[in-house]
Amino acid sequence: MAREILDLVRERSGERFQLHERFLNGQLVRVLQTIGFDRRYVRASGAYLYDDAGQAYLDLLSGFGVFGVGRNHPRVVAALRSVLEGELPSMVQMDVEVLAGILAERLLATTQGLEKAVFTNSGTEAVEAAIKFARYATKRPGILYCDHAFHGLTQGSLSLNGDEIFREGFGPLLPDTHRIAWNDLEALERALRSHSVAAFVVEPIQGHGVNVPGDDYLREAARLCRQNGALFVADEVQTGLGRTGRMWAVEHWSVEPDMILSAKALSGGFVPVGAVLLRRRTFDAVFSNMVRAPVHGSTFSKNALAMAAGIATLDVIEDEGLVENAAKVGEGILADLRAIASQRACIREVRGKGMMQAIEFAPEDRLGHKAAWKVLDAAQKGLFAQLVVVPLFQKHRILSQTCGHDQPVVKFLPPLMIGDAERQAIVRAVDDVVGDTEQIGGAIWNLGKTLARAALRTRAGS
Ligand SMILES: Cc1ncc(COP(=O)(O)O)c(C=O)c1O
Repeated sequence: MAREILDLVRERSGERFQLHERFLNGQLVRVLQTIGFDRRYVRASGAYLYDDAGQAYLDLLSGFGVFGVGRNHPRVVAALRSVLEGELPSMVQMDVEVLAGILAERLLATTQGLEKAVFTNSGTEAVEAAIKFARYATKRPGILYCDHAFHGLTQGSLSLNGDEIFREGFGPLLPDTHRIAWNDLEALERALRSHSVAAFVVEPIQGHGVNVPGDDYLREAARLCRQNGALFVADEVQTGLGRTGRMWAVEHWSVEPDMILSAKALSGGFVPVGAVLLRRRTFDAVFSNMVRAPVHGSTFSKNALAMAAGIATLDVIEDEGLVENAAKVGEGILADLRAIASQRACIREVRGKGMMQAIEFAPEDRLGHKAAWKVLDAAQKGLFAQLVVVPLFQKHRILSQTCGHDQPVVKFLPPLMIGDAERQAIVRAVDDVVGDTEQIGGAIWNLGKTLARAALRTRAGS
């Protein structure tokens, strides 16, 4: 059967764009073709993707952060194989499964003060569960979230989304959800004063923008929540499991949240999974007696494949020292990028922690650059970042992304296991590509014209 699937992939992969145009999201196909990302990948391993011409691509996107341990890690593969070959009785439902118990035990042991876990199938479902648990346990309706926040795209987490592009037209969203300024303790304190707030849901480092908070923001925010009877919920779907150089990003600031939300990297990139890690008293309030045992859950959430992949992934993170590697190599990359920034006028800031890194650009203080930047921005705000992302891919075979809507920011989310060779490749490529943008009228700015025309055509058609 496995061979038949591989034959199918080989035979029909030439049709993948047509299939997606016809049956799935054709707009994505158009984006890939417009920016020249339309490669045919045939294999993936560790930090690299390989195309049908045998070219290797360094993957700094990591499937939006799911491949923390690298792609196709053999230990996670072996764990999944053993579940299938062992014919384990997964999802009996009127039973409790040992693998879920073990993964909960392992995850909770990495936290301070959290004693219970609820598994989900994704990050957004973890957020939905957190909203429900916070409202039930506090008997309050209000949920606070930040400008530019991203917590997922189902209705509840969309109600906590800080960017209008995602929300527009999907309302009415959840009532009693309130946006506050990011990194602003006064705004939080004002919002908490109503005493109707169940929870403040916050990413320790915002994914859209890689916005790192001020040093005392999260600790003080947690204190204010506690003082005002609200729960402090750290959405670590992206930042968790070692990505920022600590197991949980809140550890950078010694914060002990009432809930930690996890997903993405938890199954090594194989099986949809998520988790809410929470205090016993919150859990006990929701699941307070036998009648309430099924008040929250989902059919697939504790499935054996996800649980086994989660356990194997935690083993890999621990045995390969990936948290420490993310800290060491990640901080090295950030230091090198900052050194480039000091030489390149168009880089406004390099920010991030560990393997979550961003470069923010700004127009240079010279007429030609400012004018060219303005033309790009008129077509689509922040489009300059594509002048870095596209050649990083086409010239250097490094896959990255622009970050957040309307922001001239390039973001890297490398697998946690990359080493010095990748660090050097990234830094050389960034320096080269950013250097090229200094030549107004060069090939990169011709690309800019093409992208600007495509953006304007899209706007005209919409
Ligand atoms: C911080 C954060 N929370 C929640 C989510 C939603 O996770 P999922 O895509 O698994 O639903 C994401 C996804 O990017 C995220 O970055």
